[in-house]
Amino acid sequence: MDLVDELRSIVGADFVVTRRDQMQQYLLDETPQAVKPVAADNVIVVKPANASQVSDILKLANRTKTPVFPRGGGTSTVGGPIPTSDGIVLSLERLDRLIEIDMENLMVVAEAGVTMETLLRAVEAKGLLFPPHPGDEGAQVGGIIACNAGGSRAVKYGIVRNYVKGLEVVFPTGEIVTMGGKLLKNNTGLDLIHLMIGSEGILGVITKAVFRLYPRPAMTAVLLVSFAERHAAVAAVPKVLQAGIIPLAIEYVERDIIEISARHLGLTWPAKTGDAHIIFTVDGSNEDDVYGQCQRIAEVCDANGAVDTLFAETKQEQDAILKMRNELYGVLMPDLAESLDLDVPPARVADFLDAVERIAVQYGSRIPNYGHAADGNLHPHLMMDLQQRELLWTVKDAIYEEGARLGGIVTAEHGVGRSRRVYFDRYTDETSKQLMRGIKQLFDPNNILNPGAAIT
Ligand code: LAC
Ligand code: ZN
Repeated sequence: MDLVDELRSIVGADFVVTRRDQMQQYLLDETPQAVKPVAADNVIVVKPANASQVSDILKLANRTKTPVFPRGGGTSTVGGPIPTSDGIVLSLERLDRLIEIDMENLMVVAEAGVTMETLLRAVEAKGLLFPPHPGDEGAQVGGIIACNAGGSRAVKYGIVRNYVKGLEVVFPTGEIVTMGGKLLKNNTGLDLIHLMIGSEGILGVITKAVFRLYPRPAMTAVLLVSFAERHAAVAAVPKVLQAGIIPLAIEYVERDIIEISARHLGLTWPAKTGDAHIIFTVDGSNEDDVYGQCQRIAEVCDANGAVDTLFAETKQEQDAILKMRNELYGVLMPDLAESLDLDVPPARVADFLDAVERIAVQYGSRIPNYGHAADGNLHPHLMMDLQQRELLWTVKDAIYEEGARLGGIVTAEHGVGRSRRVYFDRYTDETSKQLMRGIKQLFDPNNILNPGAAIT
């Protein structure tokens, strides 16, 4: 039997796609055009229904040394799931059962192909909260774990890593292993769960997960604070935290780009003055709690140079502000060459913004910058003019160099994928790289899983 026939015998003929014109959406992700990897010519898309079929596919691939590219919602911005060599795209979309919301243990159990949208709505309907929120709700459970997704709510609740308590993983040799479970504490041996989280599909295929949940806060509020310029804006952020307020999210945006987003969405950016804005989202147990926090944030920001503070009263106003922020990436995409994702120590955010501005001036470009201010996680957007003038890599080099000088790292939340391997390599020491490659070799001796991604 040839490979296609064997795959058909595992998952059924309906779930093996070999025609190029029927697989286009499996060859793409959300990576901007200039750095989007090109999919290889001979790709087979396979859609297993369960972990046992995943195991059979991996055993077959391992025996025939066929590359396998695990795929979730395709929302990577760094080419993570793009099949860059001939092989199998392993789509987890049919593992879409939300198995259980366990009210007693405050946990949710879901298969890898469940979308964020499904998970979040189901959890909300039970009056509970899955705290992290990777921007795109089309992302799937397996993908957000494989990428250790971050998002804006990390200030108070942290990133996906903090919520994964159990995993079912299929290894390249076909073993199906359950790690952890509905457990809040687990010190048993080395922590393989945390090794799988953020492994970008190169160690094993995640097929099921147990996440910890929290009670849903009774109320949230959004406060939009304006500053004349970026220094004052980002300097106010640590002052708010020092005052004892930990908001759900603290997002930094600049007027000129948020107004592009507003126009695109047919909305109005409500802040009338100032060029730099911080959006605070707070949650709390009741109105007094939430208003009290907002008032304190406003006082601290006033004392630190805020020129205006706007309290979004209605859910509609709140949603509009967050929508203009959350859709920035998609709105800027048509003119975007690449979006970066550095992290610097939170206290160096202003220095980093200045450095990017200096580089922008030096190369005669505008580099929009926005992101998760309290996490030190900024997204400098390198626009197409740099690509057209063949300056993209020069400018990127300069920004990464400044990031490193400030004690930062290459990627905070989107991962290395395929588009950042050069910089992972440049800014990771040899000993760490050797250890990582040794781990990869141990898990995947024939290097079949997502070759060309992350550390491979
Ligand atoms: C954001 C994505 C790009 O923060 O991470 O909007
Ligand atoms: Zn982000």
